[in-house]
Amino acid sequence: MDTETLTITDNRTKQTYSLPINRGTIRAMDLRQIKTGPEDFGLMTYDPAFMNTASCQSAITFLDGDKGILRYRGYPIEQLAENCTFLEVAYLLLHGELPTADELSRWEENVMAHAHTHENVKKFMDGFHHDAHPMGMLVSTVAALSTFYPDAKNIGDPQCRQAEIVRLMGKMPTLSAYAYRHRLGLPYVYPDPELGYTKNYMQMLWKRTEPTYAANPVLARALEILFILHADHEQNCSTNTMRAVGSSHADPFVTTAAAIAALSGPLHGGANEEVLRMLDEIGTKDNIPGFVQKVKEGKCKLMGFGHRVYKNYDPRARIIKRAAEEVFEVTGRNPKLDIAIELERIALSDEYFIKRKLYPNVDFYSGIIYQAMGFTPDQFTVLFAIPRTVGWLAQWQELLQDTDQKIARPRQIYTGEDKRDFVPIAERGPKVLATV
Ligand code: ACO
Repeated sequence: MDTETLTITDNRTKQTYSLPINRGTIRAMDLRQIKTGPEDFGLMTYDPAFMNTASCQSAITFLDGDKGILRYRGYPIEQLAENCTFLEVAYLLLHGELPTADELSRWEENVMAHAHTHENVKKFMDGFHHDAHPMGMLVSTVAALSTFYPDAKNIGDPQCRQAEIVRLMGKMPTLSAYAYRHRLGLPYVYPDPELGYTKNYMQMLWKRTEPTYAANPVLARALEILFILHADHEQNCSTNTMRAVGSSHADPFVTTAAAIAALSGPLHGGANEEVLRMLDEIGTKDNIPGFVQKVKEGKCKLMGFGHRVYKNYDPRARIIKRAAEEVFEVTGRNPKLDIAIELERIALSDEYFIKRKLYPNVDFYSGIIYQAMGFTPDQFTVLFAIPRTVGWLAQWQELLQDTDQKIARPRQIYTGEDKRDFVPIAERGPKVLATV
């Protein structure tokens, strides 16, 4: 008997079924044969929020939440953050292997060559209100790129896919910088491909009247590390959105816009902005115990804490905490760091957080660094979206090449009314509506 099987007895019919187990997983479709009779649709699984359902096979990112392990294509995140540039890691995520020196310089050249946008994009940006949230501007302008590159619809053509991947990677920092400067009423700064990915981004954000902007190398390196840490994180909410929308064969621009929208939520990438607001609200170390009490009473959440998968320290938070010290040597210490460290200390020794395995996640310390570097909180999630774009694109590419995949279409358990006959409007009495 094959031991890699699961035997199920349906107590309704007393029938027994043997299902294959592959990589610790049974196929949900194998349950469909389990029926009480010919009229029965067959057994389904119910898994709101995908708590225990693998939606794909992926060779990109490995994550062990209990052990606090994160690897891209097999390489530990700590080693990549220590030794690589962001574009080197982006190449690894997309192609599966680290580039040689030649491959890397061709790749850098290619991505940077696509940093410019069509001039009309600036006009589009100008249409936003002066205090429009940068994530809203980013979602819209990334989606609008779809109208500039109609050939992007050829998602079955590997060359076309490659061209759009490079375009999106090149343009993300430019669109983000335009959104940033639009809010400040500053003229847009064109990309300078010679500067490389992060230094170019910094000059597009902060260049004023100087002929060339000289980015501080420590801050540029810190940004590079933060980009590496945010580049991919397997099947989270935004990546799942990328895959779900991509499965309908929508083009990569609108698909990425959908992923950015998912990222903007405060329970996902929007948490880094919320952490800063929370630290502002706490104000001083003395107020921490009172705030923690409010969290325990369920009145609010400790933002930047907890993770669906990490039930041990998020390895990215550890690297960010270290990078913060280097940034503060240049910028001066952000006083919020002391509040955050004390908040972490108190939370990690409290039974509420211990019992629920709640640890700081990637968003807990990132905002403090970003603020010290000169970013405003509403820009933080944009700083997440730029590097995550490569992860989304790697996952999108993998999806399109996976013969197991089809259009994403979950099932539901219908809980509504049974069939009933139409009532003409004159005969309808007032009703108590469940929700409005
Ligand atoms: N503060 C207080 N309590 C929390 C927190 C938190 N940050 N996170 C989880 N809990 C509690 C829940 O109330 C729940 O308690 P209960 O068992 O008494 O009901 C328990 O811990 C389990 O939490 P769930 O909500 O079931 O965990 P889930 O996996 O669904 O949620 C999430 C994960 C959304 C990240 C959650 O921890 C959270 O909201 N954190 C704050 C927002 C945040 O930092 N998000 C960024 C995540 S990282 C990223 O997306 C990049």
